[in-house]
Order: sequence, then C-alpha cells, then structure tokens
Amino acid sequence: MAQYRIAWLAGDGIGKDVMDAARIVLDAVRLDATYPPGDIGWEFWCREGDALPTRTVELLRGVDAAMFGAITSKPARAAEAELAPELRGKGLVYRSPIVRMRQMFDLYICLRPCKAYPGNPLNFKEGINLVIFRENTEDLYAGVEFSPVPPELSAVLAKASKPFAPFKDLASDAYAVSCKVNTKKGSERIVRAAFEYAKQDDRKKVTVVHKANVVRATDGLFLEEARKVAAEYPGVQMDEANVDAICMWLLKNPMSYEVLVAPNLYGDIISDLAAQMVGGLGFGCSGNIGDKLAVFEPSHGSAPKYAGMYKVNPIATILAAKMMLDWLGETDKATRLEQAVAAVICDGKARTYDMGGTSTTLEVAEAVAREYKG
Ligand code: IPM
Ligand code: MG
Repeated sequence: MAQYRIAWLAGDGIGKDVMDAARIVLDAVRLDATYPPGDIGWEFWCREGDALPTRTVELLRGVDAAMFGAITSKPARAAEAELAPELRGKGLVYRSPIVRMRQMFDLYICLRPCKAYPGNPLNFKEGINLVIFRENTEDLYAGVEFSPVPPELSAVLAKASKPFAPFKDLASDAYAVSCKVNTKKGSERIVRAAFEYAKQDDRKKVTVVHKANVVRATDGLFLEEARKVAAEYPGVQMDEANVDAICMWLLKNPMSYEVLVAPNLYGDIISDLAAQMVGGLGFGCSGNIGDKLAVFEPSHGSAPKYAGMYKVNPIATILAAKMMLDWLGETDKATRLEQAVAAVICDGKARTYDMGGTSTTLEVAEAVAREYKG
C-alpha cells in the first residue's frame, strides 16, 4: 500500500492544466502516494446544485492531504442562472468550495510564502522573502450575510447599535449586511502559528496587520490576542501595521518584512499584493492547514479563457506541491523540489508566456522534473 493518499481536486478552468503539471513533478519526486480524484467545481454546481458534493467531502475525510487546482465562482444571480432548470428557484446558494473546505475541516492557517527566486524577470525587487499567515475560517468570510435584511435583525441592530440609526428605516432590500466575525480562539491560533514559524525559521519579526483604529470590535480583538501571544515570544519582535499602510510599506520596503499575520480578508488582499511582487499569481502558492488535514493550491483563480490550453504558469501549483511535501514531513524531497524550481526559473529556457517565454504548462513541469535531483 502506498504511504500517502492525496485527494486530487483539479476543479475547472485552468485547474486541470496546472494540476497535470503538478502531477508530472510529484511523479518525478517519486512520492509514495495514490491520488484519488474528487469531483469539485462549477460543473457540479450547474448539474447537481453543489460545487463540493458530499462524496468529495467524504473523500477528504479519508486522505492525508489534498491538492486543489482552481474553481470558477460567480455572483449569486449568475450562479442561479446557470443551474440545471430543475434545480432553479429552490433556494440553492453558491458558496465557494475552497472557503467551505477551509471551514468544514477547520483549515485555520492559510500559509502563503512569497519568495523572489533569483533570475525571475517578473520580480519587483530581488531578495523578497516573506511569509503570510492568513486566518482562514472566520472574519468577513464567516458567511453570515443578509440580503435582504430580515426585519427582526434590523430591529435588534437598531436597539443595540447607535451607528445603525441611519439604516434602521431602510426597506429590507435597500441594503445588505455581511457580518465580520472574529473569535479569540481563531485570532490566537493564527498569530501563534505565525510566531511559531518565525521562531523555527529564525525570522526576527512578525507584522500583525489590522485596522483596529476603525474596525474596533473585531480587529481590536485580533490585535489584543496578538499582543498576548507576542509576549510569549521574546525572541521575535512584534510589529503592528494598519492594512492600508502595509500595502504602501510592502511596496516601498518589501525587504523589511519577514512574516505577516492578518485576519482573513486583509490576508487575502495582501497576499495578492505580495504575490505580484514575486512574479504575479503564477507564483502564489497556498497551504490551507488544519490539525488533521491540509489542502494545497495555487492562489490564482480558474482563468476560464485559458482552460485546457496548457498555457498558464504551473509554478504556483508546483510550489504548492512543495508545501505539501513539507507538511507531510518529506522535507528532503520538498527542498530538492524547490531547488529544481529555482534552477528552472534561473535558467530561463522553460518559461510560460507570463515570463516572456513560449513554453507550455507541461513543458515547464517537465523541465522541473528533469532538474529534480532525487
Ligand atoms: C484565495 C481566493 C479565494 C479567497 C476565493 C477564490 C474564494 O481569492 O484563495 O485567495 O477569497 O480566499
Ligand atoms: Mg485571494
């Protein structure tokens, strides 16, 4: 029996393209694994009214880890319109499967390393090497949303919150409410993960990203929990930054940052910014990590217009596979795989269009596979 079972969730759009590339590389690495495929993505929403069918959730309960490609998401009205006719009007609500997996399996750490590999023509500056810890299960992603707003909710808000006064007499369909829910537990554990990482990886500073001067309740709680955790790590400096300011400072002085930790939505935003500084979404890799399961993915979307063309950059997905190897404890394979990726980037012969080359997705993967020294 193989040592690992890795759920293989290609998804749709370019998901299959980049996952085929990741598989070429994992085969070259000779990971002792089986890769049971799981149904996930837009076609299952249209056909079954569920982009993350129960059978896929069951599959995830019995694997060591998962690799996930990409999935198309559309706003509510467009999603309803593409449902099979017999499923329409039944109140089915599309929610992003990756967000659901994060919450269902309590994958509370979203780990996003951003490294400027030498020789990457897309690097914004050389030497950038930062790691983002994004809280992954709560905040504005909690899914507690109202549109239209039920009158009983508006009545409670009118009673409990003075600043709600200008909204209290609005018709229920004249506004919408999305709740930002942050817990002490959720904030504490993501900040702790960031500090633990800093300690182990010999990083000197953790920057806590927030907007506590305006979003007082939730970000205030996040910051307070962060300060408590930081006090337990005297060897690591805690730095605090407003989310708007950090966007500016990251661009100006990316080398001044090592580890950043943020609530879910700010983490989503700054991780795209940081990915762009090291080559764009073709380099943004992501681990959704819980205590029992972890799902690894590129942080880019499904780019439907390129689907099946084997044109897009597979490096983000290959680096996600590298993160998976680390998480499985296959550190030696992970290190060698990263060296192979770095060598291909530097060598420059196999490059997809975003890097100015003409190679296909699979040619880049094959170059990494050849470069891998096992
Ligand atoms: C990401 C993506 C997702 C998110 C989308 C696809 C739901 O942007 O992983 O960063 O918002 O978390
Ligand atoms: Mg994102």
